[in-house]
Amino acid sequence: MMKNSKVRLGIIGLGGMGKIHAHNMKLVQRAELAAVCDADKNAADACAKAHSCAVYYSAGDLFDSRAVDAVLIATPHYFHTTIGIEALSKGYHVLVEKPISVHKADCERLIAAHRDKKQVFAAMFQMRQEPLYQKVKQILSEGHLGKISRFNWVITDWFRSDTYYASGGWRATWKGEGGGVLLNQCPHNLDLLQWLCGMPEKVRAFCKIGKYHNIEVEDEVTAYLEFKNGATGVLVTSTGEAPGTNRLEICGEMGKLTVENGKIRFARNEIGQSTFCKTTPARFAKPPIWDIDIPVVIQQNLHSEIVQNFVDAILDGVPLIAPAKEGIHSVELANAMLFSSMNEKTVKLPLDAKAYWKLLQRLSKKSRPVKKPAAKKRNDDVSSSFK
Ligand SMILES: NC(=O)c1ccc[n+]([C@@H]2O[C@H](COP(=O)([O-])OP(=O)(O)OC[C@H]3O[C@@H](n4cnc5c(N)ncnc54)[C@H](O)[C@@H]3O)[C@@H](O)[C@H]2O)c1
Repeated sequence: MMKNSKVRLGIIGLGGMGKIHAHNMKLVQRAELAAVCDADKNAADACAKAHSCAVYYSAGDLFDSRAVDAVLIATPHYFHTTIGIEALSKGYHVLVEKPISVHKADCERLIAAHRDKKQVFAAMFQMRQEPLYQKVKQILSEGHLGKISRFNWVITDWFRSDTYYASGGWRATWKGEGGGVLLNQCPHNLDLLQWLCGMPEKVRAFCKIGKYHNIEVEDEVTAYLEFKNGATGVLVTSTGEAPGTNRLEICGEMGKLTVENGKIRFARNEIGQSTFCKTTPARFAKPPIWDIDIPVVIQQNLHSEIVQNFVDAILDGVPLIAPAKEGIHSVELANAMLFSSMNEKTVKLPLDAKAYWKLLQRLSKKSRPVKKPAAKKRNDDVSSSFK
């Protein structure tokens, strides 16, 4: 906890996401945007001018300046690890964008650098604050659904155009990003998955490389997961399908939860499915159900809630919504899916971090990104991807 009444925050990486974080700082209480930093001088100067704050062109210079108490890292993923370790070792509170690192071994290094537990170390998993998933979490943790037997999550509405992939040299390359949809869009869903259902013990996945785009990484994935308690799950995702679907279905002893189109429906069994199965004298009957539409208030600015929670944790010691150490799970799932697909076999968790790192090294060495030129003028921003 800090003695000061205000946190001086610095944002490192001022691309699509970093600029939104800078803009959102006006929504965060008891914090000020004291400095911004980007390796691209023009981007850094423009952002510093817009927010009247100090400017730096390297994270090292920002750390040496002592102009901030805490940093939000919104650079391409590989730098989350290197800049994150430097920030932690120099005593800063750190909020790191998702994914916390590209691969499990880097996650372990980053998490190990958080030695002083007085420093707050959080991750930007803002979807945990989404009221839909908050409600699902509540229903599961209060036991209303009973033991989970199966889930199915089709998240094929992460559509991205060729212009998107051409908008940053690091994107959709093994060397620059370390993966595709699993490392960029899906970390949110993978995090929610493990937050809601826990970690599986086995993963078998099929990742299609450049199925819809001229990229060297995966843009479509179908994964099958098995859990220790016998539950199973399927996750399907893509950045090439339009209009796409986002439908999460979780089945349990007491019925079925469906999250789709901003709504949660709970088809609740009057009698548990296994109890009914064992006790009914009928051959073709099913348990009667109560159809429940669960009201949810849509929340507008989830990113700033995570920043506010980070600030409150620094000043008051409140618990974090998304501790950074939990970010290893979504990375491990993404890595396991790629590992399974490339080796055409089922992967047992915990994943062998070194073996995966070696695979990624091999892929990175052969990394030959082919980019189409980006459109000259872009009048969109990253916020349209959250809508
Ligand atoms: N939480 C979310 O909803 C969400 C949404 C979009 C992006 N992101 C995450 O934010 C991160 C950035 O994504 P983006 O879309 O903004 O990328 P981007 O390419 O638009 O911006 C990255 C910025 O980082 C700068 N940069 C690169 N290396 C740097 C370094 N070593 N030091 C300082 N600055 C450096 C670049 O110059 C660029 O301005 C990614 O990790 C991504 O996963 C999160």
